[in-house]
Amino acid sequence: MSKNAEKKRKLITKTKINSPISEQFKLVRTGIEFAGVDSPFKTILVTSPEAMSGKSTVSANLAVVYAKKGKKTLLIDGDMRKPTIHQTFNKSIFFGLSTSLTEDFKLSEICQKTEVDGLFVLTSGPIPPNPNELLGSKRMALLLNELKKDFDIVIIDTPPVTVVSDALVLAPQIDGIILVVRSRKTKKEKAKQAIEQIKITRTPIIGTVLNRDLEKLDNNYYYAYK
Ligand SMILES: Nc1ncnc2c1ncn2[C@@H]1O[C@H](COP(=O)(O)OP(=O)(O)O)[C@@H](O)[C@H]1O
Ligand SMILES: [Mg+2]
Repeated sequence: MSKNAEKKRKLITKTKINSPISEQFKLVRTGIEFAGVDSPFKTILVTSPEAMSGKSTVSANLAVVYAKKGKKTLLIDGDMRKPTIHQTFNKSIFFGLSTSLTEDFKLSEICQKTEVDGLFVLTSGPIPPNPNELLGSKRMALLLNELKKDFDIVIIDTPPVTVVSDALVLAPQIDGIILVVRSRKTKKEKAKQAIEQIKITRTPIIGTVLNRDLEKLDNNYYYAYK
Protein backbone atom coordinates (compact mmCIF):
# COMPACT_ATOMS: atom_id res chain seq x y z
CA MET A 1 0.00 0.00 0.00
CA SER A 2 1.08 3.52 -0.63
CA LYS A 3 3.17 5.62 1.70
CA ASN A 4 0.45 8.21 1.21
CA ALA A 5 -2.18 6.09 2.90
CA GLU A 6 0.18 5.57 5.83
CA LYS A 7 0.89 9.30 6.00
CA LYS A 8 -2.81 10.08 6.14
CA ARG A 9 -3.15 7.86 9.18
CA LYS A 10 -0.02 9.15 10.94
CA LEU A 11 0.00 8.46 14.66
CA ILE A 12 0.80 11.25 17.04
CA THR A 13 2.01 8.89 19.77
CA LYS A 14 4.53 7.48 17.31
CA THR A 15 5.90 10.82 16.20
CA LYS A 16 5.42 13.05 19.26
CA ILE A 17 5.29 10.92 22.39
CA ASN A 18 5.43 13.91 24.75
CA SER A 19 2.80 16.08 23.06
CA PRO A 20 -0.35 16.98 25.04
CA ILE A 21 -2.41 14.60 22.91
CA SER A 22 0.02 11.72 23.52
CA GLU A 23 -0.19 12.51 27.23
CA GLN A 24 -3.95 11.97 26.99
CA PHE A 25 -3.39 8.53 25.52
CA LYS A 26 -0.99 7.74 28.35
CA LEU A 27 -3.76 8.75 30.74
CA VAL A 28 -6.12 6.27 29.10
CA ARG A 29 -3.45 3.58 29.55
CA THR A 30 -2.97 4.54 33.20
CA GLY A 31 -6.75 4.46 33.71
CA ILE A 32 -6.87 0.91 32.34
CA GLU A 33 -3.96 -0.11 34.56
CA PHE A 34 -5.69 1.28 37.66
CA ALA A 35 -8.99 -0.35 36.72
CA GLY A 36 -7.21 -3.70 36.50
CA VAL A 37 -5.05 -3.35 39.58
CA ASP A 38 -6.06 -6.75 41.03
CA SER A 39 -6.18 -8.70 37.79
CA PRO A 40 -4.67 -6.76 34.88
CA PHE A 41 -6.64 -6.56 31.65
CA LYS A 42 -4.77 -8.50 28.98
CA THR A 43 -7.30 -8.25 26.18
CA ILE A 44 -8.95 -4.95 25.40
CA LEU A 45 -11.60 -4.42 22.75
CA VAL A 46 -12.10 -0.95 21.29
CA THR A 47 -15.50 -0.14 19.82
CA SER A 48 -17.97 2.70 19.35
CA PRO A 49 -21.68 3.22 18.76
CA GLU A 50 -21.25 4.33 15.13
CA ALA A 51 -18.68 4.39 12.34
CA MET A 52 -16.04 7.12 12.11
CA SER A 53 -15.85 7.77 15.86
CA GLY A 54 -12.12 7.23 16.01
CA LYS A 55 -11.91 3.57 17.12
CA SER A 56 -8.98 2.79 14.87
CA THR A 57 -7.21 6.01 15.82
CA VAL A 58 -7.68 5.34 19.51
CA SER A 59 -6.74 1.66 19.38
CA ALA A 60 -3.57 2.33 17.37
CA ASN A 61 -2.40 5.19 19.62
CA LEU A 62 -3.21 3.19 22.73
CA ALA A 63 -1.19 0.27 21.39
CA VAL A 64 1.77 2.60 20.76
CA VAL A 65 1.75 4.01 24.31
CA TYR A 66 1.59 0.49 25.78
CA ALA A 67 4.56 -0.59 23.67
CA LYS A 68 6.49 2.56 24.55
CA LYS A 69 6.04 1.67 28.19
CA GLY A 70 7.87 -1.59 27.53
CA LYS A 71 4.86 -3.90 27.18
CA LYS A 72 4.96 -6.47 24.42
CA THR A 73 1.83 -5.32 22.61
CA LEU A 74 -0.32 -6.75 19.84
CA LEU A 75 -2.82 -4.65 17.93
CA ILE A 76 -5.41 -6.75 16.08
CA ASP A 77 -7.55 -5.39 13.27
CA GLY A 78 -10.83 -7.00 14.25
CA ASP A 79 -12.66 -4.71 11.86
CA MET A 80 -12.69 -7.14 8.97
CA ARG A 81 -15.30 -4.98 7.22
CA LYS A 82 -13.40 -1.69 7.07
CA PRO A 83 -9.83 -2.56 8.04
CA THR A 84 -7.31 0.28 8.43
CA ILE A 85 -4.47 -0.98 10.63
CA HIS A 86 -2.47 -2.29 7.65
CA GLN A 87 -2.53 1.27 6.26
CA THR A 88 -1.63 2.93 9.53
CA PHE A 89 1.46 0.76 9.92
CA ASN A 90 2.10 0.18 6.22
CA LYS A 91 1.80 -3.59 6.54
CA SER A 92 0.53 -6.39 4.36
CA ILE A 93 -3.16 -7.24 4.59
CA PHE A 94 -2.50 -10.53 2.85
CA PHE A 95 -1.95 -12.55 6.03
CA GLY A 96 -3.94 -11.56 9.06
CA LEU A 97 -6.84 -12.37 11.32
CA SER A 98 -9.14 -13.84 8.65
CA THR A 99 -6.40 -16.11 7.33
CA SER A 100 -5.29 -17.17 10.80
CA LEU A 101 -8.86 -18.25 11.57
CA THR A 102 -9.31 -20.23 8.39
CA GLU A 103 -5.87 -21.59 7.56
CA ASP A 104 -2.92 -22.94 9.49
CA PHE A 105 -0.18 -20.45 10.24
CA LYS A 106 2.36 -20.00 12.96
CA LEU A 107 1.62 -16.97 15.11
CA SER A 108 5.12 -15.70 14.48
CA GLU A 109 4.29 -15.64 10.77
CA ILE A 110 1.11 -13.60 11.04
CA CYS A 111 1.97 -11.08 13.77
CA GLN A 112 3.98 -8.41 11.97
CA LYS A 113 6.64 -6.34 13.69
CA THR A 114 6.25 -2.56 13.43
CA GLU A 115 8.64 0.39 13.60
CA VAL A 116 7.68 0.84 17.24
CA ASP A 117 9.75 -1.40 19.51
CA GLY A 118 7.60 -4.06 21.15
CA LEU A 119 4.55 -3.35 18.98
CA PHE A 120 3.23 -6.02 16.64
CA VAL A 121 0.14 -5.95 14.44
CA LEU A 122 -2.19 -8.65 13.24
CA THR A 123 -3.90 -7.07 10.24
CA SER A 124 -7.42 -8.03 9.22
CA GLY A 125 -6.29 -10.35 6.46
CA PRO A 126 -8.35 -10.43 3.24
CA ILE A 127 -11.94 -9.31 3.91
CA PRO A 128 -13.96 -12.48 4.61
CA PRO A 129 -17.65 -12.97 3.75
CA ASN A 130 -18.48 -13.88 7.37
CA PRO A 131 -16.56 -11.69 9.86
CA ASN A 132 -19.23 -12.13 12.51
CA GLU A 133 -18.99 -15.92 12.45
CA LEU A 134 -15.21 -15.81 12.51
CA LEU A 135 -15.04 -13.49 15.53
CA GLY A 136 -17.54 -15.59 17.47
CA SER A 137 -15.83 -18.88 16.60
CA LYS A 138 -14.10 -21.33 18.93
CA ARG A 139 -11.01 -20.85 16.86
CA MET A 140 -11.00 -17.13 17.70
CA ALA A 141 -11.16 -17.99 21.41
CA LEU A 142 -8.26 -20.42 21.00
CA LEU A 143 -6.25 -17.86 19.05
CA LEU A 144 -6.75 -15.25 21.77
CA ASN A 145 -5.62 -17.72 24.42
CA GLU A 146 -2.44 -18.39 22.47
CA LEU A 147 -1.80 -14.68 21.90
CA LYS A 148 -2.31 -13.92 25.59
CA LYS A 149 0.60 -16.23 26.39
CA ASP A 150 2.84 -14.43 23.96
CA PHE A 151 1.93 -10.77 24.55
CA ASP A 152 1.57 -8.60 27.64
CA ILE A 153 -1.41 -6.84 26.13
CA VAL A 154 -3.69 -7.44 23.15
CA ILE A 155 -5.77 -4.54 21.80
CA ILE A 156 -8.52 -5.26 19.27
CA ASP A 157 -10.08 -2.70 16.95
CA THR A 158 -13.64 -3.68 15.98
CA PRO A 159 -16.64 -2.42 13.98
CA PRO A 160 -19.30 -0.20 15.63
CA VAL A 161 -21.75 -2.02 17.89
CA THR A 162 -25.03 -0.46 16.79
CA VAL A 163 -24.29 -1.28 13.16
CA VAL A 164 -23.07 -4.89 13.28
CA SER A 165 -22.69 -7.38 16.13
CA ASP A 166 -19.03 -8.33 15.48
CA ALA A 167 -17.74 -6.63 18.65
CA LEU A 168 -20.57 -8.10 20.70
CA VAL A 169 -19.96 -11.71 19.66
CA LEU A 170 -16.29 -11.29 20.48
CA ALA A 171 -16.84 -9.48 23.79
CA PRO A 172 -17.32 -12.60 25.98
CA GLN A 173 -13.72 -13.61 25.16
CA ILE A 174 -12.38 -10.21 26.21
CA ASP A 175 -11.32 -8.75 29.58
CA GLY A 176 -12.52 -5.17 29.04
CA ILE A 177 -14.03 -2.76 26.53
CA ILE A 178 -13.15 0.83 25.64
CA LEU A 179 -16.04 2.77 24.12
CA VAL A 180 -15.07 5.63 21.83
CA VAL A 181 -17.59 8.41 21.25
CA ARG A 182 -16.97 11.34 18.98
CA SER A 183 -17.79 14.78 20.21
CA ARG A 184 -20.60 16.49 18.28
CA LYS A 185 -21.07 13.39 16.11
CA THR A 186 -22.18 10.51 18.31
CA LYS A 187 -25.87 10.82 19.17
CA LYS A 188 -26.84 10.32 22.80
CA GLU A 189 -29.40 7.69 21.85
CA LYS A 190 -26.82 5.69 19.91
CA ALA A 191 -24.39 5.87 22.82
CA LYS A 192 -27.08 4.60 25.20
CA GLN A 193 -28.00 1.82 22.79
CA ALA A 194 -24.34 0.79 22.53
CA ILE A 195 -23.96 0.65 26.32
CA GLU A 196 -27.13 -1.45 26.66
CA GLN A 197 -25.88 -3.89 24.02
CA ILE A 198 -22.47 -4.18 25.64
CA LYS A 199 -24.04 -4.76 29.08
CA ILE A 200 -25.71 -7.91 27.75
CA THR A 201 -22.28 -9.41 27.00
CA ARG A 202 -21.28 -8.91 30.70
CA THR A 203 -17.84 -7.71 29.64
CA PRO A 204 -17.05 -4.53 31.58
CA ILE A 205 -16.66 -1.17 29.90
CA ILE A 206 -13.35 -0.14 31.45
CA GLY A 207 -13.16 3.27 29.84
CA THR A 208 -14.92 5.72 27.59
CA VAL A 209 -12.95 7.99 25.31
CA LEU A 210 -14.44 11.26 24.16
CA ASN A 211 -12.75 11.89 20.84
CA ARG A 212 -12.84 15.58 20.11
CA ASP A 213 -11.64 17.31 16.96
CA LEU A 214 -9.14 19.96 17.86
CA GLU A 215 -7.37 22.43 15.59
CA LYS A 216 -4.77 21.11 13.20
CA LEU A 217 -1.28 21.22 14.60
CA ASP A 218 1.72 21.93 12.39
CA ASN A 219 1.07 21.22 8.74
CA ASN A 220 0.32 17.63 9.47
CA TYR A 221 -2.97 16.08 10.19
CA TYR A 222 -2.90 15.03 13.80
CA TYR A 223 -5.40 13.03 15.68
CA ALA A 224 -6.77 15.31 18.29
CA TYR A 225 -8.06 13.71 21.37
CA LYS A 226 -9.24 14.77 24.76
N1 LIG B 1 -9.99 13.71 17.01
C1 LIG B 1 -9.90 13.70 15.69
N2 LIG B 1 -9.67 14.84 15.04
C2 LIG B 1 -9.62 14.84 13.69
N3 LIG B 1 -9.75 13.76 12.93
C3 LIG B 1 -9.97 12.58 13.53
C4 LIG B 1 -10.04 12.48 14.95
N4 LIG B 1 -10.26 11.18 15.27
C5 LIG B 1 -10.33 10.51 14.10
N5 LIG B 1 -10.16 11.34 13.06
C6 LIG B 1 -10.24 11.00 11.63
O1 LIG B 1 -11.57 10.55 11.40
C7 LIG B 1 -11.59 9.43 10.52
C8 LIG B 1 -12.23 8.24 11.24
O2 LIG B 1 -11.37 7.84 12.30
P1 LIG B 1 -11.12 6.30 12.57
O3 LIG B 1 -10.20 6.21 13.72
O4 LIG B 1 -10.74 5.62 11.32
O5 LIG B 1 -12.59 5.90 13.02
P2 LIG B 1 -13.33 4.49 13.09
O6 LIG B 1 -12.28 3.45 13.19
O7 LIG B 1 -14.18 4.61 14.32
O8 LIG B 1 -14.18 4.39 11.85
C9 LIG B 1 -10.15 9.18 10.11
O9 LIG B 1 -9.93 9.81 8.89
C10 LIG B 1 -9.33 9.84 11.21
O10 LIG B 1 -8.15 10.33 10.69
MG1 LIG C 1 -11.84 1.83 12.01
